Amino acid sequence: MSTSRNLRGILIKTPEEIAGIRAACALNAAVLDMIGEYIQPGISTEELDHIANNFVLKHGGKSACIDYRGNNAWGSGGYSKYACISLNDTICHGVPRKDEILKDGDILNFDASTILGGYIGDASRMYTVGNVSQKAQSLIDVTKKSLDLGIAQVRPWAKFGDIGYAISQYAESLGYSVVRDYTGHGVGIQFHEEPAVYHRAPKGTWATMMPGMIFTIEPMINIGGYMTKLDPKDGWTVRTKDGSLSAQFEHSILVTDTGHEILTATKNFV
Ligand code: MF3
Ligand code: CO
Repeated sequence: MSTSRNLRGILIKTPEEIAGIRAACALNAAVLDMIGEYIQPGISTEELDHIANNFVLKHGGKSACIDYRGNNAWGSGGYSKYACISLNDTICHGVPRKDEILKDGDILNFDASTILGGYIGDASRMYTVGNVSQKAQSLIDVTKKSLDLGIAQVRPWAKFGDIGYAISQYAESLGYSVVRDYTGHGVGIQFHEEPAVYHRAPKGTWATMMPGMIFTIEPMINIGGYMTKLDPKDGWTVRTKDGSLSAQFEHSILVTDTGHEILTATKNFV
């Protein structure tokens, strides 16, 4: 049985590993498809988390977040929920809570990370609650386009910095800021592998992409400044320092022989 090759710290996955990660990513996409209809005023983020966790367990998977310990830079203690749910000025790693109730006008990121057959998929999307403001909707649209522009850079022999260049040139030209403290990452065998994938970088910098690499791109875009603030109470929730709205979309991407495959795109899973 072959295992992935390590190229300067970045794993080159084998065909068997890619097949396993593809399946984990398909289940992860199904979670994000399924959860949309439950995102309504009055539901708590903890209830949403339970619904997603039960769905994944029913399909033979489990959360990659539960008991995840993060690293020194973010998170403290083991994480206890299936997903991260990040509302309004929360950038990422929002911890689902019983007393956090969705209300009309909220925007939220649902970040699902799923283990299936020992392999890991990771993706997130934005959802709107009832009617949201035009400025919130524009932020969501720009963040989605930022991810798409980043993904468009992925092909063999391109540089990881090209992703961050495409994202930051676009978002900053429209007056938004790109969060610098958190990055995308290699994914599939471990939850967070090499390399860190920067969402703001000079063109032509960092490592070279090669077929068989799998990593996330997950730009966090703010209406205000890029600075972040970690919640001292839970040690996980990351908010904008200035209280401005923030949005994020994430996919897990495979570098193929000719370009890329979006592993967490919606498939006919169920
Ligand atoms: N899902 C996040 C990511 O995109 C990581 C969350 S780690 C957790 O990388 F422990 F907070 F869940
Ligand atoms: Co991720």
